[in-house]
Amino acid sequence: MPHTPKELLKGKEDKLKGISKKTIEIHRDKLYAAYVSKRNEVEEKLAKADKSTSNQIYSEWRGLKEGETFAANGMILHEYYFGILGGNGDPKKAPTVLKKIDKDFGSFESWKEDLVACGMAGRGWGVLAYDPSDQKFHNYIGDAQNQGAVWGAQPLVALDVYEHSYFIDFGSDRKSYIEAFFQNIDWAKVEQIYQRVGKQYPAAI
Ligand SMILES: [Fe+2]
Repeated sequence: MPHTPKELLKGKEDKLKGISKKTIEIHRDKLYAAYVSKRNEVEEKLAKADKSTSNQIYSEWRGLKEGETFAANGMILHEYYFGILGGNGDPKKAPTVLKKIDKDFGSFESWKEDLVACGMAGRGWGVLAYDPSDQKFHNYIGDAQNQGAVWGAQPLVALDVYEHSYFIDFGSDRKSYIEAFFQNIDWAKVEQIYQRVGKQYPAAI
């Protein structure tokens, strides 16, 4: 079954603080949609590709497998990103997430400071994730979607810091965009994701 783009931020495109409708429409309807269709394309090609000539320097198989993780992670992380925007930025709506943030980062403010620093350091992504390897929350960075991923870690808050997510609205002022991102988080959605993770990994909560 091919992947289909999810309906994300529908009708809320012009409701975000600081992030414009134009940015969201380009970002979601062109870039995110392209990750979904490319993921389908690469999966179709993999089904027919020649495995016998697979080689780590260059081979059709390697090229497709690299494209597969890039497209899949691009699709998945954008679904977390758009999926948690559209809120009022109030973390009190995510009581158990806040409790875990306090436990693993000391306070909401120190967690936020840490994710802002990740947003400034990452070339593509900053992600709050639950990592079952140590049962803790971590902020991870991703320079590209198929690098720096931590296998098994569960994204909760995905902060897109590729230029396309803010250049129209903020020029090179990435920091102000990151602040706007925080003002738009729907923490009730983050809470839902964490509850779902908790069902899968009882030690998470
Ligand atoms: Fe993006």
